[in-house]
Order: sequence, then structure tokens, then C-alpha cells
Amino acid sequence: MAEVRELLALATGRLAAAGIDSARVDAELLLAALLDVSRTRLLSHDRVTAPVAERYERVVARRVAREPLQHITGQAPFRNLVLAVGPGVFVPRPETELLVDAVLPELAQQAAPFVVDLCSGSGALALAIADEVPDARVAAVERSLAAARWLARNADGTRVQVVTGDIRDPQLLRPWYGRADVVVSNPPYVPAATEVAPEVHADPAEAVFAGVDGLDLMAMVISRAALLLRPGGLLAVEHDETQRDAVPALLSADGHFTEIIDHPDLSGRARFATARRYAVQR
Ligand SMILES: C[S@@+](CC[C@H](N)C(=O)[O-])C[C@H]1O[C@@H](n2cnc3c(N)ncnc32)[C@H](O)[C@@H]1O
Repeated sequence: MAEVRELLALATGRLAAAGIDSARVDAELLLAALLDVSRTRLLSHDRVTAPVAERYERVVARRVAREPLQHITGQAPFRNLVLAVGPGVFVPRPETELLVDAVLPELAQQAAPFVVDLCSGSGALALAIADEVPDARVAAVERSLAAARWLARNADGTRVQVVTGDIRDPQLLRPWYGRADVVVSNPPYVPAATEVAPEVHADPAEAVFAGVDGLDLMAMVISRAALLLRPGGLLAVEHDETQRDAVPALLSADGHFTEIIDHPDLSGRARFATARRYAVQR
């Protein structure tokens, strides 16, 4: 048997030495996942068996090598959900949860709203909205076949409709033009030369990077949203912190949006923009 307290202290030291800021939390989450208990329930365990301690040693070594925590546990928490993730799909980030907060008041005002999530990845936004707005109809659009497999797995048994395809395809979403009440999107937006944490390299590059300024797909997301939204419908789109002026400028240049507002995340960094489709055709 091995003492949980000692195992956690040793693992925390190794993870911190590997440059992981959240070393203690990661150490606890890795052990909790092995024992299949919540992080808070971990504290009620004094000792673990030798085979568990050995398995723990192996998963800590993977994390020391900077494999994402979520790839090791196979899970990513997002709002009230736990999503299945792994190689081939972008790991949903906590800051993206803000996009859901941004559209919930809008969705609360409508009966059976229709929501489209462009560039859906694991389905984080689509699934959270379907979970929190029980009468919403939600579609999730994703191009990568690998990501779409994770999306389909996460959406299984939910009301989320998965569409596998490229948002640049002019035919793909045509049947829904003018019908969406809300469009959400967290597209790839990181400028190509940005230095990123080692874990980010485990995300598919096409999920993260979008050309020199990170804006390669942004105008397309905006123009597709303009076509999908009914007059008065709302778009919420995440962006890089360097794009606080560029994304509102693209929304303005598109010519279909009003009430263009850029929003910071909890640490004050520019994080997403919202805009309303003009109620009158212009
Ligand atoms: C930053 S990830 C976001 C995933 C998810 N929305 C989230 O917040 O966790 C961007 C996603 O857009 C997808 N993507 C990139 N280009 C696309 C395109 N042209 N059409 C549809 N999806 C695309 C990528 O495969 C990736 O899954």
C-alpha cells in the first residue's frame, strides 16, 4: 500500500518541476481519475494499492512529458458536462464557457430557439447549450473527420444534430439560411507564429492556427453567421486577445451586423465578440 498524501506530494513536485502551473490540481485529478472518484472524494482515501501506485507513476510521467491532462484522463469538463476527448480533437478550454453565458439570456426569451455551432470540435458549445436550454434545437458543424467522431460520440443520445462538413462549402448550411436565432463559434484563430504551451501541440493544428494574423477563417464564420441568422438573431464568436479591434472591424465590414460588442474574459483579456443581425435587410 502507498500513502495518498505522499504520492500526491511527490507527483506535485515532479509536475511543478516540469513547468506545470496547476501541478497540485493535476496531481489530484490524475489520481482521482485512476480511482474513478471526484477530486473532493480523493481526500477520503488514505492509501492506495501498489498496482494503483504504479499506474499513477505512469500517468504522472505522461503528464511530466506535457501530454494534456485531458488526453490522459480522456475527459474534459465543460459547464455542467464532461466531454470525451483525445487525439484528433481540440480540448475545450474554460474561457469558452463564457460564450454560453453570453447567449443564454437571448435564448431564454424565445420558445424552441434554433442554435448553430460553427467549428464545433468536441461539441462543447452545442452540447452545453442543449443541456442548459432544454427546448433549444442545436446543430453542430465540424469539418475534421477525426474531430467529428468525438463530436458524434459526445452528441450520442442528445438533441444535438451533427453536420460533418466545411463551413466554406456554400451548399452545406443553405437549408438553414435565415432560420437560426443564435450562432456560436470558437473557430481556429491563433496567429501562426504565436508561441504556445507544449500541450497546445496535442490539439490538431487546424483547430488552433489560422494564418499569419489568425483571421483566415474569421470573415467566413461571420458571413456564414449573417446568412444563417434570422433578422435580429445573435452571433457570439471567440477570438484571440490580439484581435480585439480586428474582429469587430470584420463584423462591421460584413455589413449585416449591429450592436457589435467586444468582451473580455475573467482575466480582462479581449476574448469574444457579440453582434446582432440587422432586423431590416440592408
Ligand atoms: C478552436 S477549435 C474549437 C472547438 C470547439 N468549438 C471548442 O470550443 O472546444 C476549432 C474547430 O474548428 C474546426 N474547423 C476548422 N476549420 C473548419 C472549417 N472550415 N469548417 C468547419 N470546421 C472547421 C476544427 O477542426 C476545430 O475542431
